[in-house]
Amino acid sequence: MKVLEINGGRTLEGTIRISGSKNSSVALIPAAILADSEVTICNVPEITDTDALTEILDYLGATVKRASESIVIDPTTIVNKEIPEEMSSKLRASYYFMPVLLAKFGHVEMYFPGGCSIGARPIDQTLKGFKALGATIEEQENRYIIHANRLIGAHVYLDMPSVGATINTMLVAVKAQGNTIIENAAKEPEIVNVATFLNNMGARITGAGTSEIRITGVEKLEGCYTEVIPDRIETGTYIIAGSLAGNHLKIDNIIPEHVEMLILKMQEMGVDIEVGADYVIVSKTTSLRPVKIKTQGYPGFATDLQQPVTVLLTQCEGESILEETVYENRFKNVRYLNQMGANIDVFEKKIKIHGLTELTGNQVEATDLRAGACLVLAGLIATGTTTISNIGPVLRGYEHLVEKLTEVGASISLKEV
Ligand code: EPU
Repeated sequence: MKVLEINGGRTLEGTIRISGSKNSSVALIPAAILADSEVTICNVPEITDTDALTEILDYLGATVKRASESIVIDPTTIVNKEIPEEMSSKLRASYYFMPVLLAKFGHVEMYFPGGCSIGARPIDQTLKGFKALGATIEEQENRYIIHANRLIGAHVYLDMPSVGATINTMLVAVKAQGNTIIENAAKEPEIVNVATFLNNMGARITGAGTSEIRITGVEKLEGCYTEVIPDRIETGTYIIAGSLAGNHLKIDNIIPEHVEMLILKMQEMGVDIEVGADYVIVSKTTSLRPVKIKTQGYPGFATDLQQPVTVLLTQCEGESILEETVYENRFKNVRYLNQMGANIDVFEKKIKIHGLTELTGNQVEATDLRAGACLVLAGLIATGTTTISNIGPVLRGYEHLVEKLTEVGASISLKEV
């Protein structure tokens, strides 16, 4: 079994360059199928989630070439066949193949997707979008048979601004006949990235990044070139690392606006942070003030940064409150932080963090991706050695995590035990 071993207490200095966004890439790769010729996606991170999707593309018969940071996909040889459950259950984003195969072939058979166990994560809003555009859906336990002789644009109102349902509805609507309006759409930057990609192919989408997206269907989409935006969650994670252990640590190649809420909260705490055009420079600061944070869809405080920021709240002097409004089960990291010396009480949807507490190295487990990121951050400031087991989820989301942290002075390594 592989574990991550961290010897805490090192100062982080130098520059961390942020990779392409996981949550954009995992939608862009399946979206490539919609084109009728070769597409190039640049700045794709080398993480296990993107590997899993390129395996699915291979399985479906596409030609995929990986050249350092880019992926070139020729989808012209794709055949429509059921994606085996062991492939689709590896990650949430496998369900982006549902709309693209439906739009291309009028029929798709697929299993319920996988993903971190942080809540129930139903897909009812995605299915609602498909039905509104004219698809019929047969549900057999965790398998879906979706069919449409003709897809016709429609008015879709999402019950909640779901990222996945917004992207899935967009991916079907680009090739449906007529106009689609998605209301109460999610506004995350990844949605804008996907819409730009589709428009580069020849789609007609306006309003991405607002709560109302309008799409006029087109018959044909052509190959094109696109670039993945910087990963805002990786950005936030390393900014937090800098605030915990940095000495003028530079987080480079970022879009600061995408992490504005985190930066505002850090400024409220009193963190020493300088914001540039495409970078921030951040240092460890003492005498931090406690704050209240509530997770929300973009541009609110990202749920994916909730677990990582908890470590910083353990270093604030006084009681901080963190409320999770997106997922029902995203506090699995707390047990391990408390084991390391934190003083955190868990209520149903809230945690209360009583700071400041010193953290001590311990044996902990990455129960999910961002819980793992939280424990890496805790390990960086804990005295002694922290050993994190079940590191698979962490490697799904952070490109070259060990190399990037080692480069700026952390003592972190992957060990076989
Ligand atoms: N929801 C429903 N029904 C639906 C869809 C969503 O009830 O049909 C609920 C979910 O259960 C959840 C909330 O709505 O409580 C938000 O879910 P959303 O659909 O927005 O999330 P997602 O598309 O499944 C993406 C990211 C997540 C990130 C969320 C929120 C990908 C592959 N995943 O998930 O990323 O937390 O948006 O921003 O893009 C991560 O990177 O660690 C991660 C979990």
